Amino acid sequence: MKIGSVRVAHGLTLAPMEEHTNPPFRLLMKQYGASLVCTERIDACDVASRDRRALKLLQTSSQESPRAGQISGADPHELAEAARVVEELGFDMVDLNFECPIRRLCQRGEGGALMADPEAIERITAAVVKAVSIPVTLKLRSGPDGDRETVVEIAQRVEAQGAGGLIVHARSVAQAYVGGPDWNVVARVKSAVKIPVIGSGGVREPVDAVRFLNESGADGVAIGRGCLGNPWLFQQIRALTTGTQLAAPSASERGRAVLQLVEGEFRYYGAAAAQRRLARTSCYFAKHLPDFNTFRDAIHKVRDLPDFKRLVREHFVA
Ligand SMILES: Cc1cc2nc3c(=O)[nH]c(=O)nc-3n(C[C@H](O)[C@H](O)[C@H](O)COP(=O)(O)O)c2cc1C
Repeated sequence: MKIGSVRVAHGLTLAPMEEHTNPPFRLLMKQYGASLVCTERIDACDVASRDRRALKLLQTSSQESPRAGQISGADPHELAEAARVVEELGFDMVDLNFECPIRRLCQRGEGGALMADPEAIERITAAVVKAVSIPVTLKLRSGPDGDRETVVEIAQRVEAQGAGGLIVHARSVAQAYVGGPDWNVVARVKSAVKIPVIGSGGVREPVDAVRFLNESGADGVAIGRGCLGNPWLFQQIRALTTGTQLAAPSASERGRAVLQLVEGEFRYYGAAAAQRRLARTSCYFAKHLPDFNTFRDAIHKVRDLPDFKRLVREHFVA
């Protein structure tokens, strides 16, 4: 698949997730088979003003390539300026978020609120495409709610403005993250435009992705919650598309992956912040172990990284 000038090896990509898709997480998913990764959503005003926290969220390395930086906002000039910063920091693409259902953001007329305003999305896209030389993609939902499906109109408008690709979360903004995704929405977008369309929503098992791709005809699928604690999902899906079922990873393989992620988080966040995230980050991996409850009790007593390594050696044994 090609998104603008950028070659993406295959269609299995990592969906952006706030508080999850940090640099060590993205790198892990890349190493385990995601073709394209993306930062979490960052306010365009913070990126444009080079706010310290925004720049931290936009830390990246060429090992992650190809990777996208995601921004949201409502002012075309501000988004264009933020996109220039994303390009300058080395990202291969800039992704515009029109999907976030968080009330605080929607009340400001940003994120998912703009799914009700195709013209505004078109204006923003035109300004951003003009501002950068990297491809511009959009993360969309089906529409503001179940009664208004705006995504097809938006897809056609932004394709005409030079958007390089679309990621369509197959739920409405009103649905947030609950209720079944409607993969037919992705099929309708796919048949309305020529640029690559990546679907998102509801892939937990390899077979879900294969069904999603078959039913929607999409060029790819962006995987979110299904890969938390399970980076093997990407390889398992790839294998299944050729009819092969991969064995589940051993406990020690899971241990190596969680250790890489946690060590990365200690480097990226510093010890105090990484320690606060430790139980959540590691439990996603440990829930696949037979004695998860023992691990969950023990993780709250861990005081530092050497302590955590000891716990991994005890629990993640093949
Ligand atoms: C905790 C969480 C945070 C998310 N943060 C973002 C975000 O920052 N930007 C974005 O475009 N989508 C975000 N999403 C939506 C996901 O990218 C994805 O489209 C959605 O979760 C559906 O896919 P899934 O069923 O595979 O999780 C988030 C989802 C979750 C669960």
